[in-house]
Amino acid sequence: MLVDAPADPAYFSDALPQHIADDLTERGWSQHNIFLPADLTLALAAECRGLTRSGALQSAGVGRGRMQAVRPAIRGDRILWLKAGQSAACDRYLRIMEHLRVALNRSLYLGLDEYESHFAFYAPGAAYLKHLDRFRDDNARTVSVVIYLNPDWLLEQGGALRLHPLGKCTEDISPQASRLVLFLSADMPHEVLPATRDRLSLAGWFRRRPDKPLTPAFNGLG
Ligand code: OGA
Ligand code: MN
Repeated sequence: MLVDAPADPAYFSDALPQHIADDLTERGWSQHNIFLPADLTLALAAECRGLTRSGALQSAGVGRGRMQAVRPAIRGDRILWLKAGQSAACDRYLRIMEHLRVALNRSLYLGLDEYESHFAFYAPGAAYLKHLDRFRDDNARTVSVVIYLNPDWLLEQGGALRLHPLGKCTEDISPQASRLVLFLSADMPHEVLPATRDRLSLAGWFRRRPDKPLTPAFNGLG
């Protein structure tokens, strides 16, 4: 259960979900430089840092089920999955993403029906080689989300998210605090480049029910 907290005003306008939906349909990804309220970004960054320091994050694996393995040369982050009720800041964030999920469903017809998210911490030098977020045997992950928690990030500190849109030039997006990036999980190869400083983020996925047939709108993308 989400802990009681004052409801966040719907501080993103109706235009934002529509903009995201248009971007995802036209080019498979979308970027917004200021998404979460500044105080929430700060609280989430402090929580991620505290949890990292206390050893609560675990080395992330690659693959799924019995095939899952920690392969630091492929994926070097440490993660902690969010649970409703773990903190007021996480619950505020999860409420906002729920609001976004409902709004996206109005314009995107992808049938997004839940959101899962984890904190991620990349120590200097850690990276995540080029990959897709959708598993071969599970098509539930539909829209990938990343929200960055790093104030005053400089380009020369590296750590970009590099998108590889099919048939187009790569796009590098630096992990500046408050920035939101979304992309289609099935169609967008991407990687995390190593940085010279700690790199904190929230990664998340809007999921469909796995048995739901792909809609024509979805098939038409990418
Ligand atoms: C992931 C991922 C991108 C980023 O966690 O699967 O690709 O910029 N993250 O942190
Ligand atoms: Mn990924």
